[in-house]
Amino acid sequence: MSGAPSEIAVAPSAPARIIILGATSAIAEAAARLWAARGARLLLAGRNEARLNEIASDLKTRGAAEAIDWPLDCAGADASIELGKMVDRLGGLDILLLAYGVLGDQAELERDPAAAAKFIVTNFSSAAAWCLAAASVLEQQRAGTLLVIGSVAGDRGRRSNFIYGATKGGLAHLVEGIAHKLAPLGARAVIIKPGFVDTPMTAAIVNKGALWAKPEAIAASVVRAGEKGGPEVYAPTFWRGIMLIIRNLPSAIFNKINI
Ligand SMILES: NC(=O)c1ccc[n+]([C@@H]2O[C@H](COP(=O)([O-])OP(=O)(O)OC[C@H]3O[C@@H](n4cnc5c(N)ncnc54)[C@H](OP(=O)(O)O)[C@@H]3O)[C@@H](O)[C@H]2O)c1
Repeated sequence: MSGAPSEIAVAPSAPARIIILGATSAIAEAAARLWAARGARLLLAGRNEARLNEIASDLKTRGAAEAIDWPLDCAGADASIELGKMVDRLGGLDILLLAYGVLGDQAELERDPAAAAKFIVTNFSSAAAWCLAAASVLEQQRAGTLLVIGSVAGDRGRRSNFIYGATKGGLAHLVEGIAHKLAPLGARAVIIKPGFVDTPMTAAIVNKGALWAKPEAIAASVVRAGEKGGPEVYAPTFWRGIMLIIRNLPSAIFNKINI
């Protein structure tokens, strides 16, 4: 067949428009690198302006079509207004990754109600406001994905970190409900539950054993969750089995374990 094209031309798909809240987090940065390599357009929100700037420059060298630094205290912002500005800047939203969070010191938070209240605003109330704002955008678009980094600590309250765990457990329920609401519309929400991850958040923990993961491994789960799966992803996946056991341990046994 002379003159017939040997290849069918395929229109390149538009770069994914991705917003990252807490873009200076080690896990978020590793995920951003994976997205940059795919030519995404990234909007990076965080409160450390100098680090954001460095990360944005690095992501451009790694292939990002765009990397916009967006200095912001995510816990203090009006999520709905700020998200509107971000989405306008990108011209839509394909993925929002909520990564920011603080670990806190359980003993100190138990002693200081004001510190506990502030902690809960950072890890839960402000995050919930962002999730609701994002859900509203995705609902209108009838497309796109909300990714939220929770924690296995949210699966069962433990004496060593139940305030942190409560914030992450609350987020998990919220995201699960948003996922349920968005599913019939063609949009998605996923709560990603890492176990122990070697990042600045856990730098003070000295004995890191076999259960510890690198941020790059969690980032791979985050990026996969942006494509399919959910509404709940354990990272690494073996934590699903561990948490199944922990959640189902009878209190008589659980109360004797110092975790
Ligand atoms: N590391 C773990 O073992 C582990 C396990 C399970 C879940 N997680 C969760 O994973 C997420 C990422 O943590 P990570 O391990 O990557 O630790 P990380 O590198 O310490 O990241 C936490 C990030 O949150 C940012 N942040 C805190 N408050 C903020 C605010 N008000 N506005 C904007 N950014 C704020 C911090 O920015 P600054 O530099 O400005 O403080 C920091 O970049 C967190 O939600 C964490 O709870 C971590």
